[in-house]
Amino acid sequence: MSPGDEKILGENTLWHGRFASGPAEALLEFTSSLSFDVRLAAQDIKGSKAHVRGLGRAGILTADEQTAILSALDQVEVELATKQFEFVATDEDIHTAIERRVTEIAGEVGGKLHTGRSRNDQVATAFRLWVKEMLVTTIEGVIELQTVLLNKAVGAGDAYLPGYTHLQRAQPIPLGHHLAVHAWSLSRDVDRLFDTHRRADVSPLGAGALAGTSLPLDPVATAADLGFAATFDNSVDVTCDRDFVAESLFALAVLGVHLSRIGEEYCLWASSEFGFVALDDGYSTGSSMMPQKKNPDIAELARGKAGRLIGNLTGLLATLKGLPFAYNRDLQEDKEPVFDSADQVQLGLIALSGMIQTSEFNVDAMAAAADDQTALATDLAEVLVDGGTPFRQAHAIVGELVRQSISTEKSLSDLVAAHDDFAPSVNELFEPGAALYRRNSYGGAGYSPVADQLDRLSALIKRDRDRLDELS
Ligand code: ARG
Repeated sequence: MSPGDEKILGENTLWHGRFASGPAEALLEFTSSLSFDVRLAAQDIKGSKAHVRGLGRAGILTADEQTAILSALDQVEVELATKQFEFVATDEDIHTAIERRVTEIAGEVGGKLHTGRSRNDQVATAFRLWVKEMLVTTIEGVIELQTVLLNKAVGAGDAYLPGYTHLQRAQPIPLGHHLAVHAWSLSRDVDRLFDTHRRADVSPLGAGALAGTSLPLDPVATAADLGFAATFDNSVDVTCDRDFVAESLFALAVLGVHLSRIGEEYCLWASSEFGFVALDDGYSTGSSMMPQKKNPDIAELARGKAGRLIGNLTGLLATLKGLPFAYNRDLQEDKEPVFDSADQVQLGLIALSGMIQTSEFNVDAMAAAADDQTALATDLAEVLVDGGTPFRQAHAIVGELVRQSISTEKSLSDLVAAHDDFAPSVNELFEPGAALYRRNSYGGAGYSPVADQLDRLSALIKRDRDRLDELS
C-alpha cells in the first residue's frame, strides 16, 4: 500500500458534516490520544454532568432531557469503571468516546450534550480536575514520607554521625538533624504543590473553542458546581493556558530531585564502605549471579527516575514555546508527561517511605566514623576563640596540630593536651558526642536546638495536613 491509500474509516466523527469522507487510519493512529487520556474518563463525565446542569439552568435542556443525558452519563461511568465500555475505531479520545456512547444510550437528545462547548474547554476542564486530584494525592504521599523521616529523627535520640561537605567528614552532627534535612526540603515541595493547586483551580468550562458562546450559559455557576475556586477571565487564555501543567511538572521534578538525594544517601549508607544502614529484605533486591548481594534498588531508582522527571518538564516547555493562540493540537502532548511524572513520583514516595521506615541504622558505625578526632577541629578552634584568640589564628593553630597528628601518627587529643593554648578541660571535648551538647545556635546541629527544630517540623507537618484536609 502506498502512502495516501490507507483504509478510510467510518464517518462517525464529530465533524462529519463538513467532510466528504471519514478519517484515514493513519490520521487516527497518529492523532489519537485515547490510549492515555482514558485516564480522564471520570473527570470528563463530571465536567459533562456540570455542563448538562448548566444547559438546564440556561433553559437549553428541558428537565427530561437533562435526566436522559445525566442517566446516560451515569451508565457510561459504570461501563467504564467495570471495563464493559466498548471503544470503536473512530473514538479519537476519551471525550469523543463518551459523547458517542451517551448518544447511543440516550438517542438523539445526546446530540445536545456538546451545546455551547468545545473539546478545547472540555479537555482543559477535565485535565485541571485531574491535576488537582493528582496534586492532593502527591501531597499526601509527601507528608507520609515526612512523617516517617520525622519519627526516625525523633527516634534517633542522641545518635550522631559525621556531617559531610565535599563528601569529606566535616563535623559530627546528630542523626536526627541529618534525617530532618530531607523532611525540610520536602516541606518546600508540599508548599509548591499547594501553590500549583491554587493556580490550577480555575474552571475553563464555558470558554468554548476560544471565544465563549452566544448561548446564555454561565461559566461562574458551572465553576462552582465543579468545585473550582475561580472561573476563567479570558476564554482564549484559558483554552490554551498550560501553566498548571508546566508548574505541576516542575513541582514534581524538584520533588523528584529531592527523592534522588535521599536515594543517593541510602546507596552510600548501605554500602559496606559506610555501613550506616541495613535495608529490610522486603525493600532490597538480590543478584541473579552473586549470592551474597543485597542491593538498594529502590534508592537507586529514586535517584535514577529524576532524569525522566526533568525530561518531562523540559519536553512540555519545548512544546509550549512559541505556540500561537488559542488551541493547537500540540497541546494534546500535555498529558503523558504529567501522567508519567505523577505515577513515578507517587510510587517512589510509597517505596521510599517503606524503605526508610523498615531500615535499621547502625549507630555504632556512624559514631565510630564521627569520632574521628579531626572532625572536632572546628569545635577546637572555637574553644580557642572562647578564650580570646582571633578565629584566623585559632584556625591556624588547630590546622597545624591536625597536620602534626597526620605526619607523626600521634592522636590529636594528645597533641592538644600538650599545647599551651588549651586548658586541660579541653579533653572533655574528645568524649564521644560531647561537641553536640556544646552547639546551641538556633537551627544548629546540637542536641538542644535539634529538639526545638523537630518540634517546629512536627507543627509544620500538622499544619500542612490541615491545609490538605481543607482541599479534599
Ligand atoms: N484529545 C485532544 C486533546 O487532548 C482533544 C482536543 C481536540 N480539539 C480540537 N480542537 N481538535 O487536546
